[in-house]
Amino acid sequence: MMHCPSNLPFNVICLGETHSTNSYLSELCSSRVVDDLTTVVAEFQTAGRGQRGNTWESEAESNLLFSFVLHPTFLLAKQQFFISQVVALSIQEVLCNYADGFSIKWPNDIYWQNKKVAGILIENDLAGQTISRTIAGIGLNINQRQFVSDAPNPVSLYQIIDQDTDRFEVLSQILHKVNHYYQLLKNGYSQTIAKRYMKALFRKSGYHLYRDANGIFSAQIMDIESNGRLLLKDDSGQERGYFFKEVEALI
Ligand code: BTN
Repeated sequence: MMHCPSNLPFNVICLGETHSTNSYLSELCSSRVVDDLTTVVAEFQTAGRGQRGNTWESEAESNLLFSFVLHPTFLLAKQQFFISQVVALSIQEVLCNYADGFSIKWPNDIYWQNKKVAGILIENDLAGQTISRTIAGIGLNINQRQFVSDAPNPVSLYQIIDQDTDRFEVLSQILHKVNHYYQLLKNGYSQTIAKRYMKALFRKSGYHLYRDANGIFSAQIMDIESNGRLLLKDDSGQERGYFFKEVEALI
């Protein structure tokens, strides 16, 4: 059983083990009214889910595995990317309190140098044109010493700073940041968030290798549109635009 410290912000439900914190929270939201930023955190997931239908594996009791809920009914479905920006930026900024070198790999992976330290799975429910509910799930590698699964290029905070970190202290900081940026978003400051997101971007300058359905090419990031579309310019000067899953940065 996981012990939750009493000083956590918002309503935090601590579990020893669950299938997936995203799924647990989604089931909870279907059974009763749940406040914004209610959070489920688990020591271990038996069926952790990642992006693109992948699984998310994490050693028990070493890392942060958590999900929180928001009800961004003020956002249109086509503005979903604003939530990705809020979540990714919050995690990246909190990690910068521990070391340099953290960035956001479009659309919402968190990297330290060339390695992935955190993954984010955002699941939105739509009601007509607007977003009725968002469940954001985060897997953040904190105290794991080594990685044996076939996850590509993982890294933990321990491997970066060579010391253990209080996971609940990190969780508390992230939830406070998410709340801060979410209030900014609600109050119409999406441009402030977008600018900070761009500044925190992995490989934001220079040419790097990418792969799309037609093969590998070298390109630089030009911009990210408000709908999350990545704009690249390849080395022949051609502009290319991609939504999530249509292109992959080669590490
Ligand atoms: C990715 O593939 O990069 C996203 C991984 C997201 C994993 C987290 S762990 C907590 C939450 N519960 C899940 O089942 N997935 C997310």
